[in-house]
Amino acid sequence: MHSAPFTVAIDGPAAAGKGTISRAIAEHFGFAHLDTGLLYRAVGALALEGANPIEAAQALQPEALEGGRLRTAEVAQAASRVAAIPEVRSALLEFQREFARRPGGAVLDGRDICTVICPDADVQLFVTASAETRAERRWRELSAKGDDRTLEQVLDDVRIRDTRDSERDAAPMRPAEGAQIVDTSEMSIEEAIATAISYVERRKGFDRN
Ligand code: CDP
Repeated sequence: MHSAPFTVAIDGPAAAGKGTISRAIAEHFGFAHLDTGLLYRAVGALALEGANPIEAAQALQPEALEGGRLRTAEVAQAASRVAAIPEVRSALLEFQREFARRPGGAVLDGRDICTVICPDADVQLFVTASAETRAERRWRELSAKGDDRTLEQVLDDVRIRDTRDSERDAAPMRPAEGAQIVDTSEMSIEEAIATAISYVERRKGFDRN
């Protein structure tokens, strides 16, 4: 059991499997997990209600991270709009860095974890898949929750968000130089999890030597 900080940083586009992989790593190694997308979704949801996004990010409370509404397609788009505002990102930065340093280990997933938040993370992964594969996964998730968006609409949403997230000036989404690329297009979820766990194990073994 690790007591020193050990950080796993995972970036990648929408519905690539980051969340599932991060939760599995956290459970396997006993690390804490932070889904940083939730921070931006919470600010996006407050902005949809009329709040100023910068003020909302500066005053964000843990309760704002709860609730099923944060997972809707509408909030996802609002999240990606507020995420392009540099002051929103800087207001959320220290909380994420603190989380990454917690004793016992932490996994953070998002878009700029390897590039900006934790450039010295012990393990850096960029989890990706084709836009079509990701849209189909997200469409299944949304349909299971009763959302009636078509696959084409979900694919459009994914592409709009990919473009906005990777072309913005503030912390654009891109693989960090030292990140391992995990393309999950042709992998089952079990294979994707096993691949990610093997990278962490390799690094933990390396740290002991
Ligand atoms: O779950 P999904 O991958 O669809 O999205 P998410 O991780 O919840 O992120 C929602 C939006 O927040 C993204 O489209 C990004 O614009 C933004 N985000 C970000 O800019 N930086 C992060 N570290 C995490 C999310």
